Amino acid sequence: MASEAEGWILTATGRAPTNIAVIKYWGKRDEGLILPVNDSISVTLDPDHLSATTTVAVSPTFDRDRMWLNGQEISVSGDRFQNCLREIRKLARDVEDVDKGVLIRKEDWQKLHVHIASYNNFPTAAGLASSAAGFACLVFTLAKLMNVDQDHGKLSSIARQGSGSACRSLYGGFVKWAMGDDASGSDSIAVPLAPESHWNDLVIIIAVVSAKQKETSSTSGMRDSVETSPLLQYRAQTVVPHRVQKMEEAIRSRDFASFAMLTCSDSNQFHAVCLDTSPPIFYMNDTSHRIISLVERWNKAEGIPQVAYTFDAGPNAVLISQNRNTAGLLLRQLLFCFPPPPDSELSSYVIGDKSILGEAGVQSMNDIKALPPPFLNKDGSPCQKIAGEISYFICTNLGSGPKLLDQNQSLISPSSGLPK
Ligand code: DP6
Repeated sequence: MASEAEGWILTATGRAPTNIAVIKYWGKRDEGLILPVNDSISVTLDPDHLSATTTVAVSPTFDRDRMWLNGQEISVSGDRFQNCLREIRKLARDVEDVDKGVLIRKEDWQKLHVHIASYNNFPTAAGLASSAAGFACLVFTLAKLMNVDQDHGKLSSIARQGSGSACRSLYGGFVKWAMGDDASGSDSIAVPLAPESHWNDLVIIIAVVSAKQKETSSTSGMRDSVETSPLLQYRAQTVVPHRVQKMEEAIRSRDFASFAMLTCSDSNQFHAVCLDTSPPIFYMNDTSHRIISLVERWNKAEGIPQVAYTFDAGPNAVLISQNRNTAGLLLRQLLFCFPPPPDSELSSYVIGDKSILGEAGVQSMNDIKALPPPFLNKDGSPCQKIAGEISYFICTNLGSGPKLLDQNQSLISPSSGLPK
């Protein structure tokens, strides 16, 4: 390590998106390396609405690795974090900052410590998967700081060791996590299927469900499913390989009807595997089931799918519409059935890309009160209105992969090396 300036600090700041699986990853064949039992496919969400931003800093004055998440210091001793750090340090190369008079040699990275500050631009209480964006961002930004010269496929295999679904957040648009078959995990990587521009009229509405029961984490839930669910074996070996092929075709040809049918079927089968687990795992609740019924009835009434639904390890619904027009109609129906509590503001009930409200013809709370019932139940009654079941809706689009941000967006002070 050669340096003219004593207490120098170098930083890099990156941003990485979240993703939502349309063919789910559920079950590991190797717990340590995080190798899945089947391929999965996801869509990357717009980082303006759902992403992690991370600054990593290095300095000879740091005496240990430290991390802050949303302003709170958290432990870095976990295996997953340590595995990511170790793997990325192995790939580190020489770094020179001529302005600061700093030269870090490849081998110096083994001794130098890092400070990491990360924050999510969406509420953590929302129960939306934050580990995917978080680990993808950590690995991507460390790779930039350490001048790692590897493609995103290699970086995805490192992010995978932080959290399986994180590997898919290394790319924008449509992404496949190929399960691979090598015991080392070297071929268990994310592969881009198509960029977001390939099918950019899709609109995503996330219904963040208010009542949360204590949830089983994905990690322990899928471990129990692997150990006890016969349906999981059948799904991984027989159903998913065929479905992945069909999904790739649907994406390639922008065939929304097939895309929607496959997405809904796969979400339902994942939750069926959860029910088939002993003891059974319930991630969805009554509100989730009401949303499924609403979408199923609408799709049936139209004769062709208008919207796809998918649910991860929690009750929140992720609804994918074919275009802005259908997204507007969907939002109208959702606002009729799940109106905001009377004292709330529309601007905090529908967040993200609020322009969809224009498509829905809703500009005020009064417009919501005046909405006509979307359709009738089988018995001829309108959909029951229940306020308070949904905390808020996030409207968003498909998005791009990780990006390096400017120094002025750094979360770490360049003088103290601590979060700003
Ligand atoms: C239901 O990636 O959170 O969201 O690998 O144990 O960290 P670990 O699990 P995680 O599981 C995600 C499960 C899922 C489906 C998916 O994203 O494919």
